[in-house]
Amino acid sequence: MLEKTNLSQVARFLSRGRGAVCDTMGGDGRLFTTQSRKLQLADMMLILGSFVVVALLGQNVEVSAKDSCAFPTYTFSNNSKDWNHMKKSCVELVEKQVQVELHASMTYLAMGAHFSQDTYNRPGFAKLFFEAATEEREHATKLLKYLSMRGQLTKDLGDIIQKIDPLKEFWQSGVSALEDALSLEVHVTRTIKHIIKICDEEPNDYHFVDYLTTEFLDEQHRGQRDLAGKLTTLGKMKNGPQKELAEFLFDKKLLNGEV
Ligand SMILES: [Fe+2]
Repeated sequence: MLEKTNLSQVARFLSRGRGAVCDTMGGDGRLFTTQSRKLQLADMMLILGSFVVVALLGQNVEVSAKDSCAFPTYTFSNNSKDWNHMKKSCVELVEKQVQVELHASMTYLAMGAHFSQDTYNRPGFAKLFFEAATEEREHATKLLKYLSMRGQLTKDLGDIIQKIDPLKEFWQSGVSALEDALSLEVHVTRTIKHIIKICDEEPNDYHFVDYLTTEFLDEQHRGQRDLAGKLTTLGKMKNGPQKELAEFLFDKKLLNGEV
């Protein structure tokens, strides 16, 4: 017959998945072996069954619980700089990413200015690119603020925020500007993924990797999809019955938020 205490251990395990492994086992990851806690055969069978159930539910159970249950021991340190530890390779890539974001911002600014000229006069395209320029500058700002929050904004600012030229200053058409914008975003996405890869290596910077993935990568994928969609729509209009007016009409749709 099962003892009441063992039943409650199994119940906790079933309800909490991985965390319960530490409850069911000793603090050092070994099954209880003292006489008072020794599990009977029926208990063992029930616990093994619960492993299967939890595994089927897709929970991440680590059978080898010794390491996962171990808790860092406190060691007194006189080094007050311990609080802001961040991998050097990771910090250097973030500083470079500030440049990448500012470069994207300057390129979008040039695009916005180009389509704003009275000789080109495409206010919809100008609006799209001016807004994109602001977003990219905000990305650079976010990264600088993050470095500051982690105590890593220590480099000379002149080395981080350098004079940056746009990719181009002239675009033949709205299509060519959208193509350049998509290509630029693909490049930015690639650099962000590279930073995530490096910062994800041991010792893993969990917080920064999560921040980049949720705050930056998500927006990159959505932005790329948006630009690809706009290119498709404009391409179809250029092959349609009003192809001579395609860019003019598309510009109106951009201005009205219809595409
Ligand atoms: Fe960006």
